[in-house]
Amino acid sequence: MDIVEIISKKQQGLELTDEEIGYVVAGYTEGVIPDYQMTAFLMAVYFKGMTDDEATTLTLRMRDTGQVLDHTKIEGYKIDKHSTGGVGDKTTLILGPMAAALGIKFSKMSGRGLGHTGGTIDKLESIPGFRVNLSEDEFYKQVNEVGLAVVAQSGNLAPADKKIYALRDVTSTVASIPLIASSIMSKKLAANDDEIILDVKVGSGAFMKNVVEAEKLARLMVEIGRKAGKSVMAILTNMEQPLGACVGNALEVIESIETLKGNGPADLEALCCSICAYMIMDAKKVKSLEEAYNMARGTLLDGSALAKFKEFVRAQGGDIECIDKYSLFQPAQNRIPFKAERDGYLERVDALEIGLAAGALGAGRHKLGDDVDHSVGIVVYRKCGDHVKKGDTILEVFSNGVGEVQCFEHLNNAITIGKQRKITNLILKVIR
Ligand code: URA
Repeated sequence: MDIVEIISKKQQGLELTDEEIGYVVAGYTEGVIPDYQMTAFLMAVYFKGMTDDEATTLTLRMRDTGQVLDHTKIEGYKIDKHSTGGVGDKTTLILGPMAAALGIKFSKMSGRGLGHTGGTIDKLESIPGFRVNLSEDEFYKQVNEVGLAVVAQSGNLAPADKKIYALRDVTSTVASIPLIASSIMSKKLAANDDEIILDVKVGSGAFMKNVVEAEKLARLMVEIGRKAGKSVMAILTNMEQPLGACVGNALEVIESIETLKGNGPADLEALCCSICAYMIMDAKKVKSLEEAYNMARGTLLDGSALAKFKEFVRAQGGDIECIDKYSLFQPAQNRIPFKAERDGYLERVDALEIGLAAGALGAGRHKLGDDVDHSVGIVVYRKCGDHVKKGDTILEVFSNGVGEVQCFEHLNNAITIGKQRKITNLILKVIR
């Protein structure tokens, strides 16, 4: 097979065979195809796209370059939830304990934050002592005994995707729907749960900036899952403004604990209960979505999800005292309010700018391998559509003195106060 011919075929918009796609994936992973030819291939896909069959083949070939987990070692119904990435998205920390409290096994491999988006693993590492690396046996044992485990993604899961993603990142070929879908699904299929629920974020703080594009991505991922014999559903959710109030690692863990105690912000609680309700429906526990929603919410009200969170933190070596004593999370040195400059409605609390503002303080990474400061971040006290008066505190910056000027530049861009009261829905669409 000839890589130049394969690139040329894709440049003409022709459909590649399974063998051709397999050749590209294996050749690049093994170092036979150099970066410059792979870049040309990715660029051709970026401009010409892929059919669903091509994207499915790419997904499966990438999955098969590494280990596929043997989830028969976990008893019961196993669900994985994946978010395509956003700002203030801490749903895993709440949803995992909620599901486990209801007897649904939640086994998850998560990533670290990159760019303006946060990562679950960085958040969990702000809990003193928490171990994000478990051996495979420890992982299965914990899921069986506690009902949930969240660990850092093993390098052995879809290594082809890891290499290709790194190349896409530096060749401006990330924003391609078939490439994003196959990248995400290769890892999800390697993790091999019974069911996958995809939270596809839409809006300024997400990869997908509008519903049309997000829906295309969601439908393709659901279709790839179906072709691979898995049950996959996608929920399109709003990421124009941050989810909940807190953005930044320790702050988000504290907000998750408050939500588990029944004191969470309305949007965050509603999203967790909604996703959990679909899990309950699919685990065939109840007949109506409303009943499932109430069941999910019940775990926050009766303390069972909080109890599961404690078990989970203890099992992964974390200090459970911090659950009732937030001062055990390393606090940031400075708290600086950001106040409203005039009376009016909050028309925009831009998720991307808030994510960049938190990143400037050191909450996120600019490139893989950078350290993060777990204590810094932003707490947004008001939501889009809220009325504010001049001098009201809209948000607070928690900083250690790094990047404050840049942070406030982003915050000035993030906030628009106007005359219109705009309200947006949190859940935009459900795709099965
Ligand atoms: N997340 C992934 O894992 N891959 C992509 O391509 C984009 C987001």
